[in-house]
Amino acid sequence: LPYLSGLLPPSHEPPKMNPVVEPLSWMLGTWLSDPPGVGTFPTLQPFQYLEEVHISHVGQPMLNFSFNSFHPDTHKPMHRECGFIRLKPDTNKVAFISAQNTGIVEVEEGEVNGHELCISSHSISRISFAKEPHVEQITRKFRLNSEGKLEQTVSMATTTQPMTQHLHITYKKV
Ligand code: HEM
Repeated sequence: LPYLSGLLPPSHEPPKMNPVVEPLSWMLGTWLSDPPGVGTFPTLQPFQYLEEVHISHVGQPMLNFSFNSFHPDTHKPMHRECGFIRLKPDTNKVAFISAQNTGIVEVEEGEVNGHELCISSHSISRISFAKEPHVEQITRKFRLNSEGKLEQTVSMATTTQPMTQHLHITYKKV
């Protein structure tokens, strides 16, 4: 085999889903911002962004994710992050593990309840030369809305601002 990934079933034949991830199966798929996301923060001019999201599994008891954002006019890449979403078997406890292109690596924990996942930061680390202000806390909410669209809301506290919303975006499945 030229690649070890060839050991997985062909991509048109998805691997059987591990029952542990079933409570998060509503997140699976490729999603595209619709409409563009909105960024806010007390220190920032409001901005918009496009985002492409891939959430998949390979049969393991976890999901794989990537969130890749782009400038709405130039389509230049902006914030990017990827990682894993784990469930504690037989519970609704979730861990979200993310590496971000800004030099942040973070773990968030929380709960899935129906079509809603609420998590908040458990640990955040950053590269030694990360720009200030530093983020000190992160919370996120994902939900599948009544129109079958995925929504993500991100709030954060920094060294200069208390917990405030930074992002809100709705994605359509593609
Ligand atoms: C600024 C954190 C995701 C776009 C910032 C700042 C922080 C931050 C700490 C500086 C705020 C200040 O100066 O007071 C985060 C974290 C994210 C995240 C922790 C994910 C959990 C995103 C995403 C976008 C984005 C997805 C989409 C494009 C921006 C922009 C700015 C900014 C445009 C202002 C200019 C800049 O500093 O680059 N973010 N951010 N952020 N963020 Fe985010």
